[in-house]
Amino acid sequence: MTAETTEGLVCPRDHGALQAVEGELSCAAGHRFPLRRWAGGAFADFSDETTFDSNAALQRATYDDGQANRYSGQGQDDKARFMRDFVSRRVRGRVKAKEQLLLSAFRDLRLPPAPRLLEIGCNDGRYLFVASALSGGSGIGLDISAAAVQQALEARPRGDRNAFHVGQADRLPVGDGSVDCVLSFDVFEHLGQGGFEQAMREVARVLAPGGALLVYVVSQNDRFTLHETLRQISGGRVGVDDGEGHRWENFIHPDRFRAVAAEVGLSVARLRAYHGFWTLFAEYYLYNAPPAFAYRLLDLLDYPLWRFDHGNGFLAVARKESP
Ligand SMILES: C[S@@+](CC[C@H](N)C(=O)[O-])C[C@H]1O[C@@H](n2cnc3c(N)ncnc32)[C@H](O)[C@@H]1O
Ligand SMILES: [Zn+2]
Repeated sequence: MTAETTEGLVCPRDHGALQAVEGELSCAAGHRFPLRRWAGGAFADFSDETTFDSNAALQRATYDDGQANRYSGQGQDDKARFMRDFVSRRVRGRVKAKEQLLLSAFRDLRLPPAPRLLEIGCNDGRYLFVASALSGGSGIGLDISAAAVQQALEARPRGDRNAFHVGQADRLPVGDGSVDCVLSFDVFEHLGQGGFEQAMREVARVLAPGGALLVYVVSQNDRFTLHETLRQISGGRVGVDDGEGHRWENFIHPDRFRAVAAEVGLSVARLRAYHGFWTLFAEYYLYNAPPAFAYRLLDLLDYPLWRFDHGNGFLAVARKESP
């Protein structure tokens, strides 16, 4: 278990090598991280509450709370079925729009064979399971919530080689240049503007040259979207918060994403706004998973929005420049 547990991991504070001894991981400088056994495996806890801001504290509390957490509301049987069906349902063209977008963007990345993956804010692991199955790679899923990591370990499909640990986006327990692809979906808008910048610095550090970051982020540039319209009509009472701690000031503007990416040495290869008015309307009020052709039609109606980067969220690919 020892070698397997520490594989790909370093101390998040000084990036030194880790050793597993007596139920914990420790580095040469004496930083110690508890190891916990769960679902036939083990996970390390790299989090440090003394470094949490209010966003991190809220995220951990939300996802540790089984009552409030929409992921733990699903039974493990449902989850296992979801994992199994994910790829095949795509073939029938009827998965949730977000999943469809992520899947096709992931396929377009052209990663090396058996890529090393890292997912930040992996929750129950569903996207990392699929990404590794599709790419033949494997890696590490990190989440600030131990309950989320435990769900991921419980939901691991047979033969899955991914590891899951408790960790923070702003202090990745992963070595410099050691990852081919970083994934993070619906997480960066929960970090605060300073936390977002620090997470981007960390992503740039851990990516190998030519490696790719694939993110889906809730956007500040949401003029004329369904959410913004609802916000206007309701005097701000609805249209932002869906109970996961969303705060408009933490959302990321596409231009800010581009600027921060450039600052940390990532070049944005692709950025596209999604979920404008009609696509969002369909997802919320018509079907949770519109058929692909219907989604494409609605997306066309939203063209005047996404053409100018307006949308409830955006998908971006940023690559680490090769030296
Ligand atoms: C909205 S959920 C998204 C989960 C999943 N990626 C998806 O797209 O369905 C946000 C996840 O990010 C995690 N998270 C929030 N802040 C984090 C941080 N600073 N570091 C690591 N994980 C974080 C939360 O615990 C939660 O599981
Ligand atoms: Zn250390």
